Amino acid sequence: MSRLVIVSNRVALPGEGAQRSGGLVTALVDALHQAGGLWFGSSGKLAETPSAPNVLEADGVTYATVDLTRADHDGYYSGLSNAALWPLFHYRLDLVNFTRRDFAAYLRVNARLADTLAPLLKPNDVVWVHDYHLIPMADELRRVGARQRIGFFLHTPFPSLGVLATLPHYIELLKSLCAYDLVGFQTIEDLTAFHDAVVRRAGGKVSADGSIRAFDRDLRSGVFPIGVDPDAIANMAARAVKSRTTRRLQGSLRGRQLIIGVDRLDYSKGLEHRFKAFASFLESYPVQRDHVRLLQIATATRSDVPEYRALRQRLGALAGDIAGRYAQLDWAPIQYLNRSFSQQSLAGFFRISRVALVTPLRDGMNLVAKEYVAAQSPEDPGVLVLSPFAGAAYELDAALIANPYDPDAVAEALQKALLMPTEERRQRWQAMMQILRRHSITAWRESFLRVLNG
Ligand code: G6P
Repeated sequence: MSRLVIVSNRVALPGEGAQRSGGLVTALVDALHQAGGLWFGSSGKLAETPSAPNVLEADGVTYATVDLTRADHDGYYSGLSNAALWPLFHYRLDLVNFTRRDFAAYLRVNARLADTLAPLLKPNDVVWVHDYHLIPMADELRRVGARQRIGFFLHTPFPSLGVLATLPHYIELLKSLCAYDLVGFQTIEDLTAFHDAVVRRAGGKVSADGSIRAFDRDLRSGVFPIGVDPDAIANMAARAVKSRTTRRLQGSLRGRQLIIGVDRLDYSKGLEHRFKAFASFLESYPVQRDHVRLLQIATATRSDVPEYRALRQRLGALAGDIAGRYAQLDWAPIQYLNRSFSQQSLAGFFRISRVALVTPLRDGMNLVAKEYVAAQSPEDPGVLVLSPFAGAAYELDAALIANPYDPDAVAEALQKALLMPTEERRQRWQAMMQILRRHSITAWRESFLRVLNG
């Protein structure tokens, strides 16, 4: 069996993974345990000068991380990755802030990571690279002589050609993607957009089975929707409802229905639209005032990127406006928190929530949608209100699908969710659970690696 090497911008070191990244980390760590693997990436720490990798062994898995200099981190992570590629891949051209300097830092860091990784590789390794920070990794590894199989999975959307082509050097990125042996996407829409770009702008050939010939190379491509471990989440949620934290939240509701949103504080998540839709709901259905509460957890990230700081300000003001307008002496319509919670606590919160609002403007998959469904009680499940622009909507069509750009549509879906009879809630939940079991995180990992190894 080949050794598995995972390369990602963030590496979840033992002990911090479950809190930070949940199911994905668990699935990848499981795979590394099975095959005796290596996880490689940046450490998230800054150093004065580029350092040798920090290497840590735990339970048969090797973790190797690299500290970046301030200039490298700013250009590669806060700059090109999160101020250019992220907004572009999420169709926010208005927020793209591209500079040649950041692009140079992006290529430099990828080259440096490849230089550091190459000597750690063994001839039979299979290398699996994750996400938009590391698109040039295969090219860079090949440059330093790596001959291993290398796969790439994009966790975000892949934009349509008209949007992609606004990025200077997008042809270079296409070429870099074609340096992999397998490129995987979350949905058919992402895969089709990639094929379209390869055919129309690189003169490539795409076959019906996803094989591609482009830039003088042969590679494969496919759709691999990422999943969760639904049974593990269900068990966790059943335990968590008895915990002090969940009971505290439940007690504070005094019989009111809880509506929950859990997101990173990111403009792609549509939080401003969601807050406005909630205000429109309170306006359109005044009888619901005092009977519901929206708990929105929005964990701050990427605060070095100015747009994220600006969004945080705007959301704070919007939440304050809603509370100011509708709250009564003994009722607050909205509870807005910028902190993070453990997976276990979230599972408990999901289980006691009657509705989850997962209404991104664009999202690669959105695992919160899947985690919410998995955490429900089979007898009395809650309702998922889901944006059609989340990858999850391609599978979870038994959710209430609502367009986040139409606040009245989201308000209506919310009202329908709150009034939905138990039997309908059960039927929709069962349909979604079946899909979650079929497309589990283990199935995702195994199917990607099967094609990469095949
Ligand atoms: C998205 C990206 C991941 C990223 C995560 C958290 O899910 O696809 O690659 O790790 O956001 O973002 P952060 O910038 O905090 O790592």
